[in-house]
Parts: sequence; C-alpha cells; structure tokens
Amino acid sequence: MTTTGFDVRRIGGRIGAEIIGVDLAGDLDPAVVSEINSALLEHKALFFRGQRLDDAAQLGFASRFGELTTAHPTVPAADGQPNVLAVNGEEGIRSNRWHTDVTFVRTPPKATTLRSLVVPPYGGNTLIANAATAYQDLPEPLRALADRLWAVHTNDHDYAEPKTARAAEHRRQFVSRKYRTAHPVVRVHPETGERGLFIGGFAQRLVGLGPDESRDILRILQSYVTRPENVVRWQWAPGDLVLFDNRITQHYAPDDYGDLPRLLHRVTVAGDAPVGVDGEHSRVVEGDDAAHYTPAAAA
Ligand SMILES: [Fe+2]
Repeated sequence: MTTTGFDVRRIGGRIGAEIIGVDLAGDLDPAVVSEINSALLEHKALFFRGQRLDDAAQLGFASRFGELTTAHPTVPAADGQPNVLAVNGEEGIRSNRWHTDVTFVRTPPKATTLRSLVVPPYGGNTLIANAATAYQDLPEPLRALADRLWAVHTNDHDYAEPKTARAAEHRRQFVSRKYRTAHPVVRVHPETGERGLFIGGFAQRLVGLGPDESRDILRILQSYVTRPENVVRWQWAPGDLVLFDNRITQHYAPDDYGDLPRLLHRVTVAGDAPVGVDGEHSRVVEGDDAAHYTPAAAA
C-alpha cells in the first residue's frame, strides 16, 4: 500500500504494475497524482482495471501529468475531441511494430494513456518494453557505442506497400507533413536521470552511418529492448486505462485478432526535447517543430 492508500502490484519482473484502489474519474488529490507519477517512473507502465472513463475523464486524468498534445501531428482527431486519437485497429493500419509514440517530432509526448472501449475476446493485447533495462543489458562495448550514437527518426518510413485502399489513405495522411528529427540513441530521463535506449520503429538511420550499417546496428540494439525479460503484456478488458512513460518504453500491438473489433482512445501528455548522455538536445532535421501538435514545441 502507498501512503495515500492504493495498492501497486507488479506484473513483470522488470516492467509494469497494476494500480488497485484508485478511481481515476474522481477528483484526485495531488498527493495521489504524485504517487501515481512515482509508480510510473519506477514501473514504466501502469494498468488500471475497471475504470470505465469517458473521453472527458480520460482527458482530465492525463492532464494531471502536464499539458496535452493534440491527437497526432498528421492523423485527424476523434470526432469532436481534438486531443483524442481513436486507435481502431482497422486492417492494414495496426501498430504491430515496436515503437515509441511520435518520436519523429523533436518533442515527443512524455506519457501516453490508452483507454479500452471495445476489446476482442482474445488477442489484441498491448506489449510494453522497458528501454532502461534494455540499456542496462547491453554489454559494455555496445553501451559505449550506443552512448555516442544519434538516430534520425521519421514518419516517412519505408513501410511495406499498403494492401488496401484504406491503408493507402492512412499512409498518405500519415506522411502529409514530413518530419525528420535527430534524437540521441541513449536518452537521459529528465525526471530520474536513468538512461534508456530511445529508438523504435520511427528510427530510420544512424547519424554518420549508411543505411545498411544503420539497419544492422539498430537491429542489434533493438533486440535488447524486445527481449521477453524486458516486456510486459497486457490483456485488455473493457474499461481499462493504461498509462506508460513514453520517454523510456516502446510498445507493440500484435495483429492477432483477425477482423474482430478493437477500439482504444489515446490521449498523450506533451514532453520535452530528449537529451543525450553528452547533454545535447534533439534537433529538427526536416519539417517544422510541430507546434500545432505539442505545446512543448518551443521548449
Ligand atoms: Fe503507439
């Protein structure tokens, strides 16, 4: 039990905890919010069962952790909710690719909330990986290499050809503004000072290296992030709320539920510009600073 009276039950040995005994729709005491934030920093991903929030309550809860971003830099918001992104698992546009949310902009969100509205009876889980333990797992020579590397992240990645007209439309929308941002491969967490691998699906190229070398080195580093030891797997029930620290995790939604319906609403909290171990901040390589998306753009 925490001092404010909720229970933190760890799920994985290295990431994830279920929070029991908090009604997120209620008017949360600042001390409770502070303890939830401490649990988030420690466990990286928090799971709240049976909350049954509406959009307003999800927005209210997320905003306790900072200013919100709009739904997405390029993808339209859910109807009438400029800060809500509908994640509806349409065929061909599923997130079955390890990634950290919106790392193609200079100031990606610091935290993501996901709320389940419709979940399939099986499959459709979300996997979340601890990028700090991944970094700690690196053998020393690889860690020394990673500390010095920078990666260019982009939304204009060379994904597979879209298979459906809807997927092609989504892809066109996704890249309607192009972004390239250089981020440190090892990010120093602004609240804890912890180091974590900051790569994932939008990381396309390592600064100073060619495409083949970039791909190979990113693949090796990424293999530490996705080791089962570093991953927690969440099986959704309707009404769940998941909160993860987008500065030091990656996530993945397995495409294993056929044409069963699945709908989550995503609300993200604005984050600052990443800082590498050398103290350097991320920088825009192509595109704007996404000020229409995140209030942290000027930070
Ligand atoms: Fe995501």
